Amino acid sequence: MLIPDITIAVDGFSSTGKSTFARLIAKHFDFLYLDSGAMYRGVTLFAQEQGLIAPDNTVDPSLEKALETLDLHFEAGTVLHMGERNIEKLIRTMEVSSQVSPIAAVPYVRRYVDGRLHAFAASGRVVMDGRDIGTTVFPNAEIKVFLTARPEVRAQRRFDELAAKGENPVFEEVMKNLQERDYIDSHRETSPLRRAEDAFVLDNSEMGLTEETAWAEGLIRGKFGLLDAPEEGYAG
Ligand code: CDP
Repeated sequence: MLIPDITIAVDGFSSTGKSTFARLIAKHFDFLYLDSGAMYRGVTLFAQEQGLIAPDNTVDPSLEKALETLDLHFEAGTVLHMGERNIEKLIRTMEVSSQVSPIAAVPYVRRYVDGRLHAFAASGRVVMDGRDIGTTVFPNAEIKVFLTARPEVRAQRRFDELAAKGENPVFEEVMKNLQERDYIDSHRETSPLRRAEDAFVLDNSEMGLTEETAWAEGLIRGKFGLLDAPEEGYAG
């Protein structure tokens, strides 16, 4: 299907399958996929390696200056690099997950990431996933999706993902981490996680990828007048 160069924002809680969904749309419609969460994870890894975040999550203010030297970028579309180093694996550990939300709540960290995201997205035709893409980063995105799923389904998905990578996850810890991040992400002062008023909501607790693709295709076709937009789940 030929659709114009637009921006698609996919937001939602942790482990709702945002990146799977966004990648799938990107592949289907030949868009660039950008994972904003990876950027926050990259900054967290950087702060940890530089010793700028304490075990109690206190962030050393010198991080702001240090960010001026931080080169985070994607290679081959989606593989996050810090300078020359491929950090894709390192940013997905529980160690990074446990400190990413406090780091992402810091206003200058958000400014750093937003600046990078806008530069990466300059060419248009982008699908980006995160927490505040439809509300803050691209408030004018032509299509906004807000994904949600039941907490136990999300925790199981993340548990399976970590186990498949050879980590030894403990279900209760994974669940606790998701709940803590949901809380911090939704309650921070700068760009909290919330659904944009014009976002389409999808609860994918009981959905497989084929159904999700069909839903997304219906939504996008609807947007361009190729058929009626799905009524169910419309939050506008
Ligand atoms: O993979 P998961 O859905 O659990 O999280 P992620 O998308 O990798 O994002 C990791 C963390 O980065 C989130 O818990 C947020 O604290 C932060 N984040 C954010 O604040 N704003 C975004 N646009 C994306 C992520």
